[in-house]
Amino acid sequence: MQLETLKIATTDGVRWITVNRPDKLNALSVTTIAELDRAIGDAAGDDDVVAVVITGAGDKAFVAGADIAELHELGPVEAKEFALRGQAVFARIEQLRKPVVAAVNGYALGGGCELAMACHLRVAASNAVFGQPEVKLGLIPGYAGTQRLPRLVGRGRAIEILTTGRNVKADEAERIGLVHRVCEPVALTQVVNELLGQILANGPQAVASCLEAVLNGLDMSFEDGCLLEATLFGVGAGSPEMREGTAAFLEKRKPSFRRR
Ligand code: COA
Repeated sequence: MQLETLKIATTDGVRWITVNRPDKLNALSVTTIAELDRAIGDAAGDDDVVAVVITGAGDKAFVAGADIAELHELGPVEAKEFALRGQAVFARIEQLRKPVVAAVNGYALGGGCELAMACHLRVAASNAVFGQPEVKLGLIPGYAGTQRLPRLVGRGRAIEILTTGRNVKADEAERIGLVHRVCEPVALTQVVNELLGQILANGPQAVASCLEAVLNGLDMSFEDGCLLEATLFGVGAGSPEMREGTAAFLEKRKPSFRRR
């Protein structure tokens, strides 16, 4: 895949997608959003890819937001299209049924925070800074930040973060549930790999079904979410993966799941 603003590499089935505009602190341009769409589609369709990591190039920024130079030019109709387009791409990330981890290596502001929140899991370097500073620009978030942030940290905290536009440092982000692990910047890759190692040792279909149940179930009534869970539980029952997992327990051995 020829890409202008992303770098793609795959190690042991883990597809690393790096936003690669370090001179602009990896700000998301229209091109970057289009390329992310392609990269996610490619990872979804490639059976050899078992997980995805999204990160930023350099040691200063994950993604410092949507490209403000591009935003400056937009009128109302174009701006709505712009938001819908980004939202669709981020939804595609969230809908991936392979684990997606954001490796947040610095500023994750505006669209960067929204990109990290669209990933299933977030690991942050101790120098990471989160926030939705759009109000400082006379804007609101457009890539679903007003929707995902309250789902992650609660309505009250989200309103405070969104309306002040303040920075949220890594330790606070961990305390409020915005990130799952914080580590020294040099350890970021290792910690991401350890987290993924724990997940990828499990039944891949079971992991995919957990993602499905949580992410789709949250937007349903409790009863409908439970029905979705029961349906997925039923789909998993009798599968080779479930037979291996339960047999391994009964035989007092480690299960050996097919990764793909
Ligand atoms: N869009 C476009 N360009 C951006 C950008 C963005 N969101 N964020 C940073 N850049 C560019 C800067 O314009 C600068 O480019 P230049 O060297 O051509 O002037 C370059 O990246 C480096 O940024 P700079 O501001 O000089 O770095 P800094 O260390 O002084 O500050 C930030 C870092 C993150 C605090 C600052 O860049 C910033 O506030 N960025 C915007 C964050 C934001 O509001 N995001 C939401 C957008 S909707």
